[in-house]
Amino acid sequence: MSDRKILVTSALPYANGPIHLGHLVEYIQTDIWVRFQKQRGNHCYFVCADDTHGTPIMLKADREGISPEQLIAQVGEEHLADFTEFGVKFDNYHSTHSEENRTFSSLIYKRLRDAGHISSRTITQAYDPVKAMFLPDRFIKGECPKCGAADQYGDGCEVCGATYSHTELKNAVSAISGEKPIEKDSVHYFFNLADFTGMLSEWTNAGHLQTEVRNKLAEWLEGGLQQWDISRDAPYFGFEIPDAPGKYFYVWLDAPIGYMASFKNLCDKQGLDFDEFWAKDSAAELYHFIGKDIIYFHALFWPAMLSGSDFRTPSAIFAHGFLTVNGEKMSKSRGTFITARTYLEHLNPEYLRYYFAAKLSAGVDDIDLNFDDFSQRVNSDLVGKVVNIASRCSGFISKRFANILSANCSEPALFQEFINASEQIAEFYETREFAKAMREIMALADKANQYIDEKKPWMIAKQEGQDTQLHDVCSMGINLFRLLAVYLKPVIPALSENTESFLNIGSQIWPETTQPLLNHAINDFRPLMTRVEADKITAIIEASKENLEKTTDKHSQATHATGKKFEPIAGTIEFDDFAKLDLRIAKIIKANHVEGADKLLQLTVDIGDETRNIFAGIKSAYAPEDLEGKLTLVIANLAPRKMRFGYSEGMVLAAGPGGKDIWILSPDKGAAAGMRVK
Ligand code: 2FM
Ligand code: ZN
Repeated sequence: MSDRKILVTSALPYANGPIHLGHLVEYIQTDIWVRFQKQRGNHCYFVCADDTHGTPIMLKADREGISPEQLIAQVGEEHLADFTEFGVKFDNYHSTHSEENRTFSSLIYKRLRDAGHISSRTITQAYDPVKAMFLPDRFIKGECPKCGAADQYGDGCEVCGATYSHTELKNAVSAISGEKPIEKDSVHYFFNLADFTGMLSEWTNAGHLQTEVRNKLAEWLEGGLQQWDISRDAPYFGFEIPDAPGKYFYVWLDAPIGYMASFKNLCDKQGLDFDEFWAKDSAAELYHFIGKDIIYFHALFWPAMLSGSDFRTPSAIFAHGFLTVNGEKMSKSRGTFITARTYLEHLNPEYLRYYFAAKLSAGVDDIDLNFDDFSQRVNSDLVGKVVNIASRCSGFISKRFANILSANCSEPALFQEFINASEQIAEFYETREFAKAMREIMALADKANQYIDEKKPWMIAKQEGQDTQLHDVCSMGINLFRLLAVYLKPVIPALSENTESFLNIGSQIWPETTQPLLNHAINDFRPLMTRVEADKITAIIEASKENLEKTTDKHSQATHATGKKFEPIAGTIEFDDFAKLDLRIAKIIKANHVEGADKLLQLTVDIGDETRNIFAGIKSAYAPEDLEGKLTLVIANLAPRKMRFGYSEGMVLAAGPGGKDIWILSPDKGAAAGMRVK
């Protein structure tokens, strides 16, 4: 083991939506880097968490009729399952809604306050009088003051690109209640970022940032640093500010502190020394992998917050670019807004890990997932070059030599050439030049194939008395394959681990002095990877289009809209969409309270040919006993939805403004359970 102690983070995903391929660029990039560090023998820890606070999460839980705690528990589980299946292996995955995070957020705030870096003043903001809450710009909609486009957000127009204040929007309404917002005063707390101008000028020029990022920061610093508003008024899902009742930390204040909180949680589980990594004089390395859209938070606010509260600052921030699919921004309507789950249902996650590695550099350029290129690269590199070496050689070893490799290394120079590449490949991994590392490894794979092409074991096998030569050539091929698998291990760990089983060897560390396997028994070869099938890609795109149709959550579509007006956010559906609904009269057979749910009732309904379990957010209007025996309308073909309490197998239709005024529709006389509604 080396002495390097390294703590690594990826940005914390918001707990209000699924992981998609855009997110995965970062998690895969970080995971490859961490796996590489571990394989080199460094003490490297990779922590992450769900980013759980803020208005969108609070409102989403509200719309789903569950508490924010229930929503974040459910989404946290889904996120971790997606990451795990993509081979993203955290040492700890936590939540920003945790006691550790509350403690550190309060501590950092108090230290900043006591050092004079916090001030407060009254500001005026848009307020929804119906919902009784202040409205972030993204929750105000109206007509663009420049071009008149309808349905634009409070901070900018997606049609003409104009930016403005919400007060300039014409006919502005709250996106939550539809009511006209009023202006209201409230006291806010601010972090005096300008106090750190000197510290940040120095820090940003001290080798912690990529050149492009440093240049951007120089511009921001030149423009002068503003106070940062770190408080939000109730109702808000987050942590209350210790000395300010009714005021909450803005989600972006406690989000990066979530890195510390997750690591503290790991320290408590594993007996690690927290201070060794976070104290001001820490000799450990601390790296944050992030997307280029959140540089401001990580390269200005975060180091300033840490420095002002007596903690160490990051060793480096590694920013990456965005993902485009087939050359364009991910789009729900084109089916290129692909969730991790949809991908996993159709394709091997290691294809994507390899493809991203083959495209990633240390810079902030966007990367493109082009599906033709994806198939071609995976098929030609991983299947055609790497795995092919093993399949070309293993048959002879098994059939002719009882799965025992030759006792002789017939081409020591070639083997040594593969070992000599080790430092160059390691250097590329270390500096996040993964595309270069992949090129280097594929050049070695070409050499191994060339060797087999020249030796032609399939010809040797036909000649009498050439067994030794056949044995040597195939054993050499297997030994070269072994080195390729170890170099690729950070990128495609599952394939590499299956290779270790095939070769009957332990977990491979980074090869510096590795000797060839001689006179060594291996196992039968099983195909390690199959080719990408074109119809699977079509299926992913189609399923992603269907996901869009299933999305009833208009807001989440709106926040992720790409700005193109043909994105279906306008609220109309085609007749074909309507025709897909299987609407039935259903009889409520049983209704129960749901433990831990404020708004939900659990209903057992008879839809004619079967009974269904449905969770309905109608508790504010009905007691369970009022519902039993009643008829209602149900969407019978809604895909079952996993909730914290179990599966909901349909949706009960009800009308009304909410609260006590919700009515399940009482069908006319003659209606009976199971009738289809035409
Ligand atoms: O941009 C985002 O998705 C944020 N949830 C990232 C937070 S990173 C860190 F600061 F917590
Ligand atoms: Zn406009």
